[in-house]
This record gives sequence, C-alpha cells and structure tokens, in this order.
Amino acid sequence: SRQMLRVSSAPLCFAGKACFASKAAQFKVCVSGGAGGIGQPLAMLMAMNERVKEVSVQDVSMAMVPPAGVAADLGHMEFPSKVVGYAIDPSKPAVDQLEECLTGCHLVLVPAGVPRKPGMTRDDLFAINAGIAKGLVDACAKYCPEAVIGIIVNPVNSVVPAMAELYKKKGLDPLKIIGVCTLDTVRANKFVSVMTGTSPMDVAVPVVGGHAGVTILPLFSQDKIAATIPADKIAALDKRTQDGGTEVVEAKAGKGSATLSMAYSGARFGGKVLDGMAGVPASEYCYLASTVTELPYFSSKVDFGPKGVVKVHDIGVLSAHEKVRLEEAKAALKLEIQKGLEYAKTC
Ligand code: NAD
Ligand code: LMR
Repeated sequence: SRQMLRVSSAPLCFAGKACFASKAAQFKVCVSGGAGGIGQPLAMLMAMNERVKEVSVQDVSMAMVPPAGVAADLGHMEFPSKVVGYAIDPSKPAVDQLEECLTGCHLVLVPAGVPRKPGMTRDDLFAINAGIAKGLVDACAKYCPEAVIGIIVNPVNSVVPAMAELYKKKGLDPLKIIGVCTLDTVRANKFVSVMTGTSPMDVAVPVVGGHAGVTILPLFSQDKIAATIPADKIAALDKRTQDGGTEVVEAKAGKGSATLSMAYSGARFGGKVLDGMAGVPASEYCYLASTVTELPYFSSKVDFGPKGVVKVHDIGVLSAHEKVRLEEAKAALKLEIQKGLEYAKTC
C-alpha cells in the first residue's frame, strides 16, 4: 500500500512466509539506544524491513530493559532478520566495546541519549548528549566507517555538525553523518491532511532548515494540497509544526518526548537509506553538511544511492512568508551550528 511505500520501497512484511522466501535481506543495521523509548519500536520496525538481515540492539548495561532482552523479544518475530543485543559499560570507551556490534553495519541509527522534560529546550541536552554521540561515532569510525549514521539524538542542529567535523578530522566522509528530521515532515503532512480533510499519504510538505524551534521551516507553498490552505492560516500551521515536539513533551508531562512517531519517522528515514543502498533511488529531507545556503549545515531534500548521499537539493522557490522565515531560521541555526563546531574543535 502507499503507506508502506512511505517507510521503504521494500514493504514492511506482515506476511512472514513471503519474507522467508525473499532474497532481499542484505543489510546490517544498528540501533544505538535500542532499549530506549525510541530505540525499541525503531529496532522493531527495522527488524521488519525486508532489506534487513541483522539488527544490533545496542544500549548501556543499566538500560531500563537489557538490550539482550529486547533482542530476544524481537528475535521471535517471524521475519528473516537476526536480532542481537549489545550492552556497554558507559564509564568505559564505547570504541573498546562495540567491535562485533558495529562491524559490517550499513546503517547506524542513534537515538541514544537523554530526552527533554517540559520547560527545557533541545539545546539544554547538548553537553550530555554530544558526549554520548561522540563515543558511538568514534566507534563507528573504527568499525563501520562506510555506514550511514542517522543522528536522532538532540540537539540535532549542534550534534550533527560536531560529529561530522569529527569525521572530517579522521579523514572520513562528513556526509555519512545525517541528522534525522523526518518527524518534522511527518507532522507537517499530518497537520495539513487534518486541516484540509485529505489523506496524509497524498501530502508531502518539504521541511528545511534544522530541527528545533524556528529553524524548522515547513514549505507549505511547495505541496499542492498545502498550497490550497488560505494564507491567513499558514502562520499558525507553521508554528504548530515548529512546536510539534514541545506538544508531545508537554502531553507526556515529564515522562519523555516523542518516541512512537519518531520510531516511525526513523524507520522511514532508515528505509530510504537502505533503498538507496539496494540501488532503488530514494530521497528524504535531512540535515547535513551543505552548500545550499551560506550555512555549512542545513536540512533539505537528499537523494540516496548505494553509498549513501548522492545529491543534496536546493530549497526551491519560496513564498513571501517562507522568505522571511528562512532568514529567521538561518540566524538561529547559525548559532547552533557554531556550538557544534566549537565542541569538535575542543575534542
Ligand atoms: P530514552 O531515555 O527513552 O532512551 C534513550 C536510550 O539511550 C536509553 O535506553 C539509554 O540507556 C540509552 N543510552 C544512553 N547512553 C547510551 C550509550 N552510550 N550507548 C547506547 N545507549 C545509550 O530517550 P528517547 O525518548 O528514546 O529519546 C532519545 C533521544 O532522541 C533524545 O535526545 C531525544 O531528544 C531525541 N529525539 C529526537 C527526535 C528527532 O526528531 N530527531 C525525536 C524524538 C526524540
Ligand atoms: C521532537 O521533535 O519530538 C524531538 O526533537 C523531541 C523533542 O525534544 O521535542
């Protein structure tokens, strides 16, 4: 169905027997933070992707559920993928503990880290989450330097520049480090579909810029259904898309941020990356090193191919509202990028 196409051109297979006959499973995927709120359902969705032969569920030894337990649970589903759990001691370097977990990985999805509570910004998470991401990215550089690393952990706007610069310092390709902003597109699509009484499957709103507050810039003018929304409703729709994460943080009242919609979005992103690797052209809006604007990092449409990123697209024609918002987004994003670059300098 079209809904499945959103996640991958290889359908999520609920017909397990058909899967067992399939030769499509060829990729190894790691979910770091795989025992967490996002990690568990994300590992499940990746284990259900027909292109996936193995999932590493990686987390720390004192995780809420032992990674081996998550793996044992997922390993009983009737899919071809093998699921293995890996627990690390976070007081010791991740790089010394993750050889088997990461060797052979094509895609590493990183929701490992701390989520925000009401009243916090994503930026407040930088100090702790950048350190967690660095340990994992150092290990990826050693054991799977060709893998695409999908950074989900916040603040994406600063963590991605920090990690991409670290990859550059090691002589590796910074375009392997990609910030996952799919949830912003997913939210914009859903909000537009509800407002217009259409199917979310028929809506595809580009969201560019970054993944926090005003840096989240939905381009409603570029989607044919969203473009029919009266101009006086756009500012509020834009704001709701910017504040989608906060809406969930407040509704969860101190018990975390978006997990299930993020797992869906992470699986959609991961599915597209694996499509590209399998030779099936695929694209997604995501945040990475970029020359599309004067900023060194920016989110726009990215095409995936056999080795990951093949093309980063321009942002196209903007409405008057979007032009004003672009300037606002760039001003905020510039500072958040700077924070990531400084972190990388001091490492
Ligand atoms: P969570 O606390 O439920 O899970 C995080 C997991 O990471 C935990 O299981 C924890 O043990 C694990 N972890 C900590 N250090 C680790 C390490 N060194 N190695 C491996 N695992 C480690 O949190 P969550 O709700 O899953 O959110 C995770 C992150 O994702 C947060 O930073 C949150 O802000 C972010 N997030 C991003 C988006 C996005 O759109 N990019 C959306 C939602 C949440
Ligand atoms: C989101 O957009 O849901 C995430 O970035 C989590 C958050 O802190 O809002």
